[in-house]
Amino acid sequence: VRRITAPQIAKRKGGEPIVSLTSYHAHTAAIVDKYADFILVGDSLGMVMHGMESTVGVSLDLMIMHGKAVVRGTRQALVVVDMPFGTYEESPSEAFRNAARVMKETQCGAVKLEGGVRMAETIRFLTERGIPVMAHIGLTPQSVHVMGGFKTQGREQDDWEQHFEDARAVTEAGAFALVLEGMVEPLAAQITKDIPIPTIGIGASATCDGQILVLEDMLGLNPAPPKFVKVYGNLGGQIEAAVKAYSDDVKERSFPGEKQVYR
Ligand code: KIV
Ligand code: NA
Repeated sequence: VRRITAPQIAKRKGGEPIVSLTSYHAHTAAIVDKYADFILVGDSLGMVMHGMESTVGVSLDLMIMHGKAVVRGTRQALVVVDMPFGTYEESPSEAFRNAARVMKETQCGAVKLEGGVRMAETIRFLTERGIPVMAHIGLTPQSVHVMGGFKTQGREQDDWEQHFEDARAVTEAGAFALVLEGMVEPLAAQITKDIPIPTIGIGASATCDGQILVLEDMLGLNPAPPKFVKVYGNLGGQIEAAVKAYSDDVKERSFPGEKQVYR
């Protein structure tokens, strides 16, 4: 199977909703690959996989390591790798150098970066040189220290114009899709109507052209998921039950049993 491409995602504007999830890990990515149009190797992996307090500490090497795992584990979905904080903001040439490393070393099909108007020049620089870019506006977690926390965007209508300008700027710069994170429904709806590229919502309502969630959040592995997450599984409970059963078996010497022993 040939993989889904960034232009194919772009063409889905206004059509059948785009399905996506994050993944950082070969075995889970192989399952997600059966259903998702694209898989995001999100820098949320800093928090989910490595226990960091925000995504600010994630390195390019860490993104590349997990990006490789997800590409190896999948064959169908477009794999998009997040550019981590500090690897693309300074200049378009810095962004190109680092994004090209991500593309070459992971063999992913696109990168994602945070920011609207301020990143437009960089988005243009990358796309003109062969790197498809997914943009990300609204609540942008890499700016947590400037925002003073993770805050839902667009509660005051005065702020809407800035978000419209951000959406238009990344679209004109050549982004193939746009993640809208943590914003009120009418703002997400208006942006989705306003721009010709697909919007991918996370905490941004069903009005978007597609949806994304952090896989571990929707599987029930996060003990305190955000309000916008619908929890579809109970992986935390299942893992705990399995670990406890194993622990009991070891203590009772009932594991390993007959079937697990070499005779
Ligand atoms: O890092 C991430 O997981 C993300 C998505 C949730 C959009 O950027
Ligand atoms: Na991210």
